[in-house]
Parts: sequence; structure tokens; C-alpha cells
Amino acid sequence: MGHAAKFRRLLLQWFDQHQRKLPWRGERDPYRILVSEIMLQQTRVAVVEDRYIKFVKQFPSAAILARARESTVLAAWSGLGYYRRARALHGAAKQVVSRGKFPRTAAELVELPGVGRYTAAAVASIAFGEPAAVVDGNVKRVVERLCTGQGNSSQAIAEHPIAEEDYWRIAGDLLDRRRAGDFNQAMMELGAMVCLPGQPLCTQCPVSGLCGSRGPLAKTPKASRRKAIVRYALVRRNGSVLLQQRAKHHSLMPGMWELPALDIDLSVETEPLLKLRHSITTTDYTVLVHAASPGKVQGSRWTSFHSLHRLPLTGLTRKIMEKLNHV
Ligand code: ADE
Repeated sequence: MGHAAKFRRLLLQWFDQHQRKLPWRGERDPYRILVSEIMLQQTRVAVVEDRYIKFVKQFPSAAILARARESTVLAAWSGLGYYRRARALHGAAKQVVSRGKFPRTAAELVELPGVGRYTAAAVASIAFGEPAAVVDGNVKRVVERLCTGQGNSSQAIAEHPIAEEDYWRIAGDLLDRRRAGDFNQAMMELGAMVCLPGQPLCTQCPVSGLCGSRGPLAKTPKASRRKAIVRYALVRRNGSVLLQQRAKHHSLMPGMWELPALDIDLSVETEPLLKLRHSITTTDYTVLVHAASPGKVQGSRWTSFHSLHRLPLTGLTRKIMEKLNHV
């Protein structure tokens, strides 16, 4: 048996026994697979699990999602971040409806908004069995470790980073073409559960005998993180709270609702009601929420606590409202 054939057999055997039970595992509906893959692009599995279940309950088909209002879709996406994905998914659902059927190949899927090479291959392989390999961060790490220090090209590979196109070629060579969807998920699962970024769990790895590195990779320096403090005003009256809408043209979370920011210049005499940490991209924020009385806040409106779930809130605002038991 060749190297790749042995790799496939061992990996799939391990996946059949050890894969996590996740709500989209075993799913065959391309719409649901698309939802899960788009959510998983930039959000951790632990966060996605719950949100995926709620989302497909609220929008059980592409047709139903296509008919929903954008603000409803954004509200359902609240907390997942990277809201461009929600708009793209909404747009993709509309295209599926206007085409009359769900695209079945990676080549067609990639034409949908928000669907790149990875997502197209994931949906085509998992829903339709197309032998298209996926490459994401987890797959890259597995491939990198597997290929480090092996064969004639070991030096070349060890000394030069693997080029983007090489990852796709190697993943495509390894792919089990008869169980493409399972194989792709097995590669990602191995990266997520065993072939970890810091200390890989090589003793638990089904393919350690075929692996060139069997150990940690050299660390790549992390981009340094910024620290910042932000303050928000919590203005409450008769079961309602004052919220402000972000500008429609804002590059981050346009049109979403949040608590009014408190001017740092305004001397804040009171202790914050709430203090929490919130990280986005490269900044770690310390967030302070102060009780305040209504002043002149532009573009603001009163919203009752029980209708908060219908508004597209920013993830941070939702987190604050949850901590204060208002949702
Ligand atoms: N990450 C993104 N999609 C995944 C999947 N289907 N299985 C495991 N990890 C994933």
C-alpha cells in the first residue's frame, strides 16, 4: 500500500471512532452545510454549535432565509462577528432561489457571494461527494508537519515555507476520493483535536508513523496586541434602554445597534456598573459600562428589553446585556 493510501485508511479509521459529535456532522443538506462552514470560517466551534442550531431553526431553508429581512438575519448573527458573512450568506440564499436549485459543484458554488475556494470545496465534498480537497489553517498545519523532514525535498520544505498552491496540491494528493467529505472533515478534526498548534498530541495521532516532524513546529511570532479602554453609557427608563445605531457607511459592523459611547472627556464620577474584557482582531479592550442619564445622543432610540433580541446588536452590546440580565 502506498504512503497516501495508508494515510487515508488510518485517518478515516480514526475519524470514524473519534470525531466530535457536532450538530452539522452527518448533515447532507447543502444549505445547512453552507451555513455551518460560513460560521466556522472565523468563529470557534464552541461558539458556532449553539448559534448554528438556532440559525437553522429560524431559517430552515435557503428559500426562507432569502425571504427574511436583512436586519432579521443580522440579529440572528449577533455575537458571531464578521457580519459581512451574514450579508453574503443572505445574498447566497437569494441567488440559490433565483437559480432554482442549489449549485452542486465547487466550480459553481464559488460563484456565490461569500463562498471562496475553501467553502466551495467543503460544501461540494460534504454534501455532494465531489473529490475536492479543502485547505484551512488546521489542514495547513497537518500538511506542514507531515511534510517536514521527509524524503529528498526535506531540506527544501523545512527551510522554505510551503507555498499556498502547494498546500492545495498536497491535500488533493492525499484526499480519499471515495469519501471526500469525511476525509476533509477528518483532516480538520485532526488539526483541531490532535495536531495542535503548540504541543501536538503525537501519541494519540493515527498517522504519527507517517509524519515527518512528530513534534512542535517552530513558533511564528504573534502580532503584538493593542490594549484600549472604552466606556459606554447605560441609560435605562421603564424597562427600556437607549441604543445608538452605527453609521451605515462604517467599515465595521455598519448599521448595527450598540450602547452610546461615553466621551472619555466627560469626567465620570461614578464607579462602572460593569467591567469586562472584549477582544476584536488585534485589540484587547477593557470595557466599562456606566449608568447615565439621557443626554443628547444622536441617532439613538429607546428599545424595550424584551425586544432587544429583534435588533441587530453588536456582539459586545449583546454580551453587556446578557451580563446585566437584560436579554
Ligand atoms: N472547521 C470548519 N469546518 C469544519 C468541519 N466540517 N469539521 C471540522 N472542523 C471544521
